[in-house]
Amino acid sequence: MKTLITNAIIVCGSRSFVGSVVIDGKFISKITEGEYQEGIKADRIIDATGCWLLPGVIDSHVHLREPGLTRKADIHSESIAAAAGGVTSYFDMPNTSPPTVTTDALETKFRIASGKSIVNYSFFFGATNDNADIFPELNAQRIPGVKLFMGSSTGNMLVDNKDALNKIFSTCKLPIVAHCEDTASVAHNMRQIVEKEGSDDPEIKFHPFIRSREACLSSSSLAVGMARRYDAKLHIAHVTTKEEIALIDGDRITGEATVGHLLFSEEDYGRLGSRIKVNPSIKTIADRDALRKAIADGRLQTVATDHAPHELKDKEGGCRKAASGMPMLQFSLISMLGFVDSGLLTIERLVELMCSTPARLFSVYKRGCIREGYYADLVVVRHCGPWTLRASDVLSKCGWSPLEGKTFSWRVERTFCNGEEIYDGMSVDTSHRGMEIEFRHGEI
Ligand code: DOR
Ligand code: ZN
Repeated sequence: MKTLITNAIIVCGSRSFVGSVVIDGKFISKITEGEYQEGIKADRIIDATGCWLLPGVIDSHVHLREPGLTRKADIHSESIAAAAGGVTSYFDMPNTSPPTVTTDALETKFRIASGKSIVNYSFFFGATNDNADIFPELNAQRIPGVKLFMGSSTGNMLVDNKDALNKIFSTCKLPIVAHCEDTASVAHNMRQIVEKEGSDDPEIKFHPFIRSREACLSSSSLAVGMARRYDAKLHIAHVTTKEEIALIDGDRITGEATVGHLLFSEEDYGRLGSRIKVNPSIKTIADRDALRKAIADGRLQTVATDHAPHELKDKEGGCRKAASGMPMLQFSLISMLGFVDSGLLTIERLVELMCSTPARLFSVYKRGCIREGYYADLVVVRHCGPWTLRASDVLSKCGWSPLEGKTFSWRVERTFCNGEEIYDGMSVDTSHRGMEIEFRHGEI
């Protein structure tokens, strides 16, 4: 089956041009520049005049909750949301139940995803205080890397023992993605606020005082020191402060910004409350603006969602009781396209942040760029009149979004995954199954 997409503005590496793309089976077989001329034979021709054609987004940080937490979300429901949002690949995090800290647990996730993920999938292996001995046995072609919680969050995966950290950083040959928040400082800050406020569950506005910038910086600094000492490859997840940006060298030490931390600041706690309670916390406007600047100028390398769905009933309460995390997978691309409209990002830079750099940092095989011979993971987006997001637009199982009421000027018109159209602008082909993503660590 050959599909031809004509007259789109194709974002191809650092360049964009009007052209056409031929999809043959699972792959991009030809890219031509210029207005479409009759001649190329195809079973299906899609006129994409006025649209942009981007590589499918690779979301390198999601929590799809399966197995064990499937009342919040599951691989099928969330991969449907991904398809509708132009996300064709994801790397899921290990804080499921059971956690992905054994090879058996990892195998189970691959098996589940092969049966029900609409888009392409892979899974981080989770580090614990005592499982670094397993790292050399992990199949490096199957996973993007190791996730390390150097701060406690949803799930109990904290690694706080210095010997264990030394062992992890010295043993791990794959990228280490670290959640950095010093748990002792967080606990100390919580005690202080509890005492001052006379409440065991302080109001959400105190979240950034408890999950403080100092807690982030001290933990990120420790991670960077360890990575330097052992020459490990470290990607700092959800960087939230301007001080941490300065720790990143763009080479062995890279950093991620999340869509939530780019969109919101502490001014939004009043309006959105626990809906934007996330770890690490959303901080000041100055931090948000520093993150925006850093994704534009290259000091932060990737943008991911940290898609962390919870039922709204889990989000009730204050700093102690309300669950941390928010769903973001379905609307990440159109949110980031808003930064193209505002002049912060070029569309080529957006593609680097969300597609080609995640592919490069984690050595994804043949995805993340529009290139002949690569998998045809593609998204067609159109600039459109303003529309307002409603809860009824949300496909994630949790059924809510912190973006409800926000106005967007872009729509995802079509999504292709491994050459198949899985979203046509109206509905997702829920019969489609994604592929396991392949990695070529050390080769790309
Ligand atoms: O806010 C968060 N939620 N931060 C994390 O690190 C985990 C995530 C979750 O899984 O809910
Ligand atoms: Zn996360």
